[in-house]
Amino acid sequence: MLLLTIESSCDETAAAVVRDGRIVLSSIVASQAAVHAEYGGVVPEIASRKHMEAVSVVVDQALEQAGVSLDAIEGVAATQGPGLVGALLVGICTARALAWAKGVPVVGVNHIESHLLAAFLEQPVEFPFVALVVSGGHTHLYLVEGVGRYRTLGQTVDDAAGEAFDKSAKLLGLPYPGGVLIDRLAAEGDPAAVKLPRPLLHDGTLDFSFSGLKTAVLTHLRHHPDAAEGQALNDLCASFQAAVCEVLVHKTRAALRETGVRRLVVAGGVACNSGLRREMAAMADTEGVILHIPSPALCADNAAMLGVPGDFYLSAGYRSGTIDAIPTWPLDAMAARLAGGG
Ligand code: KG4
Ligand code: ZN
Repeated sequence: MLLLTIESSCDETAAAVVRDGRIVLSSIVASQAAVHAEYGGVVPEIASRKHMEAVSVVVDQALEQAGVSLDAIEGVAATQGPGLVGALLVGICTARALAWAKGVPVVGVNHIESHLLAAFLEQPVEFPFVALVVSGGHTHLYLVEGVGRYRTLGQTVDDAAGEAFDKSAKLLGLPYPGGVLIDRLAAEGDPAAVKLPRPLLHDGTLDFSFSGLKTAVLTHLRHHPDAAEGQALNDLCASFQAAVCEVLVHKTRAALRETGVRRLVVAGGVACNSGLRREMAAMADTEGVILHIPSPALCADNAAMLGVPGDFYLSAGYRSGTIDAIPTWPLDAMAARLAGGG
């Protein structure tokens, strides 16, 4: 099935053409990050407006790059949630209008499910696997037994990992989205320079907590006003990144041991982080676990990743009639769709 996919859940307007849920013929991402940087974070109303300006442009570019016309498209998928309602509606309405005009089926897909299945675009992944999804809004460990069959093993009780990166970056005077800048500065710093907490490291659960880490960064800055400059900034970034990565790796190892599953997928924007990729690879190596981390372009928000669940649900006969935006949409709820509802 040749699918056109549209993503607009946050501040990236993206479109892609994907064949059979596996082969990416094109993937276009228009980022609004520079616009939101001025405000220190995503402004929902601006996001919706920018999506409206960009959506038909990225769809046209995706078709052109793939070398196919809209007439060749056999189905359309759009992100239905979780995300910003106004932003989601732009992608959903565009997908529905195109599908209606061309008489092809349309399906709304879950953004987190798309992140989690993105690895399939690069290589086959056998079920079951443990998945760590780390993004701006999510830090979740799942046991994945099949497409649509997800069991939450643990999750953050407060900030998501990406949120912790971005909020700490803001405290350090770095522009939004700061995660990637912390990663860059950390490469020049000493991860042992600043002692930061490892929240919930040994609490015996698979849950995470990152809000205290951000407070620890703030406290350090109060005591060391020069810490947001020069080598001290590099050291603080390296120490912060090391703390986040240690907790993520520790809990993921625990999830693998508890479930006895020998395959791991790490996905979402924070999976672009070089320290996390390195440390997950080292852990997987010592645990004898097969690790799949998509290349960075497939970890950050993109539309190609929608091709995997989009193709799966459309091929299984699932059709979305009206598509409401779903701002909060836990993955556990996808089982209802498999059962013929949802
Ligand atoms: O998945 P994503 O692109 O959007 C959401 O679904 O939220 O994730 C965005 C998050 C942001 O918090 C961003 O700062 C973070 O991923 N991120 C990173 C890196 N690249 C993106 N965090 C740490 N290191 C990076 N290299
Ligand atoms: Zn995302």
